[in-house]
Amino acid sequence: MSIWLSTLEAAKNDLAQSGMTRTLKIRESPNAATVNLNGQEKLAFCSNDYLGLSYHPELIAALHEGSKLYGTGSGASSLISGHTSIHAELEQRLAKTQSLHIPNAGASYISTGFMANIAVITALATLGNISIYSDALNHASIIDAIRLAKASSKAHCFVYPHADFDQLHQLLTRDSNPLKLIVSDGVFSMDGDIVDLPQLLAISKRFDALLYIDDAHGFGVLGAKGHGILEHFNIQANNLIYMGTLGKSAGIAGAFVVAQQEWIDWLIQKARAIIYSTAPPPNLAFALLKSIDLITGEVGTKRRSHLNTLIEYWTTHAKFTNWQTIPSQTAIQPLIIGSNLDVLKVSEQLSSANLWVPAIRPPTVPINTGRLRIALNALHEIDHLEILIRRLKEIQ
Ligand SMILES: Cc1ncc(COP(=O)(O)O)c(C=O)c1O
Repeated sequence: MSIWLSTLEAAKNDLAQSGMTRTLKIRESPNAATVNLNGQEKLAFCSNDYLGLSYHPELIAALHEGSKLYGTGSGASSLISGHTSIHAELEQRLAKTQSLHIPNAGASYISTGFMANIAVITALATLGNISIYSDALNHASIIDAIRLAKASSKAHCFVYPHADFDQLHQLLTRDSNPLKLIVSDGVFSMDGDIVDLPQLLAISKRFDALLYIDDAHGFGVLGAKGHGILEHFNIQANNLIYMGTLGKSAGIAGAFVVAQQEWIDWLIQKARAIIYSTAPPPNLAFALLKSIDLITGEVGTKRRSHLNTLIEYWTTHAKFTNWQTIPSQTAIQPLIIGSNLDVLKVSEQLSSANLWVPAIRPPTVPINTGRLRIALNALHEIDHLEILIRRLKEIQ
């Protein structure tokens, strides 16, 4: 055992020396503009609950009601006995959110977005030695899904520089493999930019490739009804597989995949992350139906509009001499500070002024691009943004 402990100690020291130690912070209140952290009130800019729904009274009531009607746990994997009528209803509703964009749309409701990416990409890879094209800034769960597809099904992977469609085009031109899959985040989780989906779709069609879009940060906030990136760009296509998550704007937990029903049927045959995992709790499915009502109804419309006002205010006023912003039209507004130690220091200085903005470091982002990831949400007010901008200007 001593060799294990000394190896662990050395690995931890390595992390500490490069400023890469991660620590869990314990929040003691629900998500809101102001939260309680270690007994102190902090103005928080660190939640993906972009519409501020995770403490909405109607969702709390729906979760209560769903628990009474369907119980708290599904009790088995979907294929054994865990798939209930409320799961099926939710899937139909989720499919409907994308049905203007994807013909013959079906849906699968999965426990998390991380699992959904693993499920889809590995299931597609079982069809042969497929080629996967992945944006360099895709989410860690896509990267891990591709690693698994390579190990389990001999998929080939080509990573193209972020949003560099010329490079992607060149790589595709050189590839004689008929089974091509292009994978991209819809909204990039650490940069906040929106993928140029019309262009990416055109490339995918030109090469007869499937296009898989992870819209974790777009569902709920993009599009007039909050249906996500396909609505935002008014896309219609039959070579698309769409994944949205339900723990961010939807304020609860889980994820879903929408694609032509044939693909959903294939997930049920081959996605091990679905087949060998307990189905999501049915009370969550019940509450998620209410969440979709809120997202697509008046509450969602008002909150998206307010969020867009905040985004515009931020992008107009948040200008700093020493730090670089990344152009972003979404609630994710990064501020590049540089080294790990520098970004940690700024985050700590903000914290001592009771502002909670997490420092994001490699490997989550490329080396020397340590950043503050300022996440806006509909519960913020312009005053809150002013406080943060003022403090950042004093620190810089
Ligand atoms: C782009 C992207 N995809 C997938 C996920 C994983 O989703 P989940 O948190 O539901 O596992 C995340 C989570 O942050 C994400 O940012």
